[in-house]
Amino acid sequence: MRGELDLCGFSVFPSTHEDIHDIKIIDSASLLSGVNESWFIGRQETYPMMFFVAKLHHSNRVVGYFTAADAGAIGYYNESLPGFVYLSRFAVSEGLRRCGIGTGLYNTMIDSIMRMPQRYRGVVGDVRKSNRDSLSFFGSKGFREYEELSRPHWYNNGRTDDDRHKIVMYKLFPGR
Ligand SMILES: CC(C)(COP(=O)(O)OP(=O)(O)OC[C@H]1O[C@@H](n2cnc3c(N)ncnc32)[C@H](O)[C@@H]1OP(=O)(O)O)[C@@H](O)C(=O)NCCC(=O)NCCS
Repeated sequence: MRGELDLCGFSVFPSTHEDIHDIKIIDSASLLSGVNESWFIGRQETYPMMFFVAKLHHSNRVVGYFTAADAGAIGYYNESLPGFVYLSRFAVSEGLRRCGIGTGLYNTMIDSIMRMPQRYRGVVGDVRKSNRDSLSFFGSKGFREYEELSRPHWYNNGRTDDDRHKIVMYKLFPGR
């Protein structure tokens, strides 16, 4: 509405080195497993077309990020899902979830992957069974579980069996 501040208005950009600090803060607050800043820097350097941030219009603050990589190159699911992209770490700042930021990041990621010359066949990610929000998110994008690849007792850290249970979610690109 005119004159009102759109608190959730955002745009998606390729990530830059200046964003890493904010990305790390969101990551640490959002995910059970942790990585250090050099992990993000490495991903930015190796996969610049697969690392995006969302920034709020009214403050330019980083409020979400999405990273991915060539699944075969990093050793994920190549036998079962050759030619796939692995969706690695992604999160949205807690107070700003459920207003489309994750979807905006995901859509930008898919557009970018589809334009790449490698002609990837699809995308795959893994989620803790306890992470209902993320499972719903993947479900909303048309992902399905690859049951043969899912594993109970997979993750070392986590308080409950569902925290340690890995669910593999994948999606084929049409026509590929
Ligand atoms: C998963 C995550 C990135 C989603 O980001 P988001 O900006 O809230 O997602 P969106 O607003 O675009 O939601 C898109 C759809 O996903 C589903 N969804 C997302 N969060 C949900 C929730 N908490 N409960 C149920 N469905 C949910 C809904 O279908 C939603 O559409 P709707 O709001 O129109 O119903 C966010 O919850 C998050 O950062 N979680 C913590 C980090 C994490 O788990 N990362 C993934 C690790 S595998």
